[in-house]
Amino acid sequence: MIGPGTGIAPFRAFLQERQVQGSGRNWLFFGEQRACTDFYYRDELLGWQRDGVLQRLDTAFSRDQSEKVYVQQRMLEQGAELWQWLEQGAHVCVCGDAARMAKDVDAALKKIVQAHGKMSSAAAALYVSHMSKARRYLRDVY
Ligand SMILES: NC(=O)c1ccc[n+]([C@@H]2O[C@H](COP(=O)([O-])OP(=O)(O)OC[C@H]3O[C@@H](n4cnc5c(N)ncnc54)[C@H](OP(=O)(O)O)[C@@H]3O)[C@@H](O)[C@H]2O)c1
Repeated sequence: MIGPGTGIAPFRAFLQERQVQGSGRNWLFFGEQRACTDFYYRDELLGWQRDGVLQRLDTAFSRDQSEKVYVQQRMLEQGAELWQWLEQGAHVCVCGDAARMAKDVDAALKKIVQAHGKMSSAAAALYVSHMSKARRYLRDVY
């Protein structure tokens, strides 16, 4: 799940469902401007992490340091593990800003597939396109 800003909204419901089902591994990338004021649902998310519902929680608070940090940077930092999850059949869901974030996250995803899957950029684009066709790469962006 990649849901910076208001994009976090649907993923609470996803995680609530997973909690009830008690199955599956979950990884959330969340980003906002400042951790002290914008870490939406912090206690709930940390609770899910503590209870083992959320295996991975990676945050990117863009304005907490001099250089901007966005979710796609966290994805790239965790590229090797993300690639393993993809190869194990993970579904990737992106929610939030369509104008910039979704495009940059898409580029990061292809970059990870290319680098860790040792593919050409064309083969990586095809891999991601196959994920879309299989409904394993879903985007709710606006
Ligand atoms: N009309 C309205 O009242 C209204 C209200 C809310 C949202 N919106 C629109 O809805 C969309 C989503 O907004 P949102 O509130 O969910 O938050 P957002 O504007 O998408 O910001 C959430 C986080 O994403 C960061 N970000 C900026 N550019 C990014 C990029 N290229 N890749 C990854 N992350 C990036 C922001 O950092 P920085 O800000 O530090 O760059 C911030 O930390 C936006 O298009 C926004 O304009 C409109």
